Amino acid sequence: MLDGGGPLRTHGDRRTLIDRHPLCAEEIDDEVDQAGSRSHRARHGNRGLRRLGLRKHAARESEGPGHKPGLSLSPFPTFVQIILLGSGAGGGVPQWNCGCTNCRAARAQGRGRTQSSVAVSADGERWVLLNASPDLRVQLATHAPLWPAAVRESRVRAVVLTDGEIDHTLGLMLLREGTSRLPVYTPNGVAELLAGPWPLARVLEPYSGIDLRRLPARRAATLHDADGKSLDLSCTAVALARRPPRYAAAAVGDDFEIGLRIQDPATGGVFAYVPVAAAVDDDVRALAAGADLLCFDGTFWSDDELHGLSVEAPRAREMGHVPLGGPDGSLRRLPGIGAKRVVLVHINNTNPILRPESTERAQLTAAGVEIGEDGMHFTL
Ligand code: MLT
Ligand code: MN
Ligand code: ZN
Repeated sequence: MLDGGGPLRTHGDRRTLIDRHPLCAEEIDDEVDQAGSRSHRARHGNRGLRRLGLRKHAARESEGPGHKPGLSLSPFPTFVQIILLGSGAGGGVPQWNCGCTNCRAARAQGRGRTQSSVAVSADGERWVLLNASPDLRVQLATHAPLWPAAVRESRVRAVVLTDGEIDHTLGLMLLREGTSRLPVYTPNGVAELLAGPWPLARVLEPYSGIDLRRLPARRAATLHDADGKSLDLSCTAVALARRPPRYAAAAVGDDFEIGLRIQDPATGGVFAYVPVAAAVDDDVRALAAGADLLCFDGTFWSDDELHGLSVEAPRAREMGHVPLGGPDGSLRRLPGIGAKRVVLVHINNTNPILRPESTERAQLTAAGVEIGEDGMHFTL
């Protein structure tokens, strides 16, 4: 596992920062449709304990029938943990049918990038997936914190989808052996895709099934597990590019793609996750303002990157991805966006930034923007 640099900063002024933030100024609400009761006390009452490294948690199956729930000294860090499970765009690196320079190099070196997904946890024990990639099986097998602690158990307690694209949703199919209905948080538009043109919800129903929970727009909502217990993370969703996936090109809606602002109310750690963005606009700036970490769309360097390989290929902007390079590119805007650290994710196999000797990589380095790698681990 590649270490992303450890703790990002001290936690001194965090509450002030969050309370002032336009997207998070109001009290975190619990309006997301979810099973079970509110757990305000669990989220706020334990703050002092968590700072001391103590956490009240229910017994896990692995702790055996004799175990009594209660306070325990947790060996895990109490700050937000983030694992970059997959840093590649749809197709990954190498892509199965691609013989471009980067894919050839990846094959020759026996290394590559799995498809876009992130795991986040407030306690290092109960994890939320941000997008579920077709490579989820190997991603879950690679990272010990995500391994089951009992014969039938999952550390994945919920999933949040930023869009309905195949590379961000197909992994739900791989979780069908679950023993309870998996909470899947999405904006309205994506929930409708999964109930209709991309019928994941129906197909998974005879298996463990998914519990589609709507994320409110632009308001912090606490994430909960299948039993309605708080996962101690709040999530604010903001609609971004407003483009339906190719399989539902005629669909009408304004929230087919969202950016996320995930925060731990106890520590104030803020993670902005924007793997797909058509622009660096005011909405993206609001998501990123004051964040400890921003993971941003690094799909393409130039608008005609795919077009250069094949005349039929769409342009980056037609696909809803702002390219990094050029006067209108994202790279000029990311360093000043207000996030303490900016890491690119969802990087397409054609992107020249993947070549360490490229001038494009040098521009990235000069801008202080990092390239995401599979297995990067962040603590906020
Ligand atoms: C995208 O990010 O634009 C989509 O995932 C592309 C695709 O896989 O068709
Ligand atoms: Mn994609
Ligand atoms: Zn390629």
